[in-house]
Amino acid sequence: GGVRTPQASSPRFGSSKRGNMVSCGAAKVAVLGAAGGIGQPLSMLVKMLPSVTELSLYDIQGTPGVAADLSHCNTACKVKGYVGDEELAACLEGCDLVIIPAGVPRKPGMTRDDLFNINAGIVKGLAEKCAEICPNAILNIISNPVNSTVPICNEVYKAAGVTGASRRILGVTTLDIVRSNTFLAEECGVDVDEVDVPVIGGHAGITILPLLSQMRPKVSLDPNRIEELTVRIQNAGTEVVEAKAGAGSATLSMAYAAARFAESCLRGLQGDKVYECAYLESNLVDGVGYFASKVQLGPNGCEEIFEVGEVTEFEQAGIDALVPELQKSIAKGEEFAKK
Ligand code: NAI
Repeated sequence: GGVRTPQASSPRFGSSKRGNMVSCGAAKVAVLGAAGGIGQPLSMLVKMLPSVTELSLYDIQGTPGVAADLSHCNTACKVKGYVGDEELAACLEGCDLVIIPAGVPRKPGMTRDDLFNINAGIVKGLAEKCAEICPNAILNIISNPVNSTVPICNEVYKAAGVTGASRRILGVTTLDIVRSNTFLAEECGVDVDEVDVPVIGGHAGITILPLLSQMRPKVSLDPNRIEELTVRIQNAGTEVVEAKAGAGSATLSMAYAAARFAESCLRGLQGDKVYECAYLESNLVDGVGYFASKVQLGPNGCEEIFEVGEVTEFEQAGIDALVPELQKSIAKGEEFAKK
């Protein structure tokens, strides 16, 4: 697939493909948590992006090895490893985009919220450094629970006096869209490259709400199947956690999804209009200050947040059910950040 340029009147929010392999920028990207299950394949995919000229890999362990390994790949991008707190500032210096997959993943039986106690502190610490060293960089937050870690980052930036950052602090929900596109292409027997399913709400359980009524191409699905597919998309992460049986959660599909989202952010920085879904601060939906939405990316991160649009009764019931759940996760993150 080549580059698909969505028309402004009818953007595709979940099907951007890899760029055209022509370097049209000179971006510095950092991956924090780069030695992990997501961090390693993600760093490799980012090293393959022509617009990235510098890649900084940070972790509390292992990055000298990962960086040495990746540095032998013959792409133009220079890779450097940083390890430990005292090297974090140098890693972040001059970054255009910072991708954060640092933290522990789920084991069978765990919800994403069960990760809060460990990951909230990790993300808070990393966000404090980003706010200080590269306050204008775009952040891509992967560490779970995303529904809470994105509010934590926003609170950290506000406390640091960085204003207007909420459009640059983006929770990565791309894997939900990637999964939806894959499952619906299989279900409907259509070319996966043609499928585009927007996913809104949040990134945990029932807060993940695929809008199958807005799927492209237009297909007609039985209401029972719509419900089953919605539940499968909401639990798809758990499918992987169970299949890995204690060895972690999605890493390869997540790295794929995060690399696609990062590339979209970089294309936006270079002036392209790019359409994706992401979880960010907004007042789009009554009662919640954060919502995963259809967005247009550009030089300032998210340039535009799109209305939810027309939904079915089933989808509206999904929104009504997810709002209180999202409220709790947001409040938990905000309270933690203020402590
Ligand atoms: P992992 O345990 O394999 O890797 C995490 C890495 O973070 C490790 O290398 C660890 O040393 C590092 N780390 C820990 N504390 C750190 C700190 N203070 N600074 C820098 N690095 C630190 O875990 P995995 O599988 O890579 O998952 C990472 C996170 O991504 C988890 O929170 C997981 O829940 C989340 N995730 C999010 C998804 C999404 O759709 N947004 C999908 C899948 C996972």
